[in-house]
Amino acid sequence: MSHVYEAAQWRQYEVKWHDPHREIEPLEREIVVVDGALATLVQAGILPRGDYDRAKMLAHRSAVRDNFDIPWTAISPRMQRLLYAINAIAQPQVMVAVGIFCGNTFISNAGAAIGPGACYQAQRMVGLEIRAKEADRARRNVLTIDHDRLAEIIAADGIPWLRDVTDPIGLLYLDADGPSGSGKSIYLHMLQAALHALRPGSLVLAHNSVNAARTMHDYLAYVRDSANFRSSANMVVDDQGLEVSLR
Ligand SMILES: C[S@@+](CC[C@H](N)C(=O)[O-])C[C@H]1O[C@@H](n2cnc3c(N)ncnc32)[C@H](O)[C@@H]1O
Repeated sequence: MSHVYEAAQWRQYEVKWHDPHREIEPLEREIVVVDGALATLVQAGILPRGDYDRAKMLAHRSAVRDNFDIPWTAISPRMQRLLYAINAIAQPQVMVAVGIFCGNTFISNAGAAIGPGACYQAQRMVGLEIRAKEADRARRNVLTIDHDRLAEIIAADGIPWLRDVTDPIGLLYLDADGPSGSGKSIYLHMLQAALHALRPGSLVLAHNSVNAARTMHDYLAYVRDSANFRSSANMVVDDQGLEVSLR
């Protein structure tokens, strides 16, 4: 079953790629938008509840702002809050993020279990990035707040890594760009490589469900088919979007 949450006037809420910490709207508005997205995920049966610790979310945000080297990012404050909240509510024991660039997307997910925003104990938090230099930057960034050394930042191609993984994955976050213009069409290959590690109740999050909907069409058709996933919802909180799917 497929669902959609569209924030009012989301087209006017544009990601500031080179100024990720700038406040785009009042905090109260951001919270209302994300609460609406979480309510849709609850209605869709994807999350059990919609509440999370907002003070911890802000502690997470401050730590990232103060410590991370982020040359650019497509993660807006709304998306950062939504990713943090989904992880804080679902509390996956094993979270795997693929295509993490400088680590901002990784920590937006892992921040629910790592650093000052931590609200639960996880077993394994893995970030995969194919470009070694960016994986190094991501590792440096994450280490500034990961005092317990929980995160594993690995310089590797996500597809063979996912094919070989033996741990069950509670939450898989997809954000890799395929080679030579193929863009987000790589998501379906990544998902298929990971299927054996997903269990009933696992979540799969795919960034860019709005701006890359065309190159992701095969992925979106797959996760929205109830023969493959129990429920799937398109979170149109900004001009990038996030597809959230429950196995
Ligand atoms: C568009 S960036 C993601 C940026 C992210 N949305 C942000 O705002 O920080 C995609 C990343 O995926 C990485 N990537 C591409 N193919 C990959 C693969 N097969 N495995 C792991 N990472 C990959 C790229 O090197 C790039 O850093």
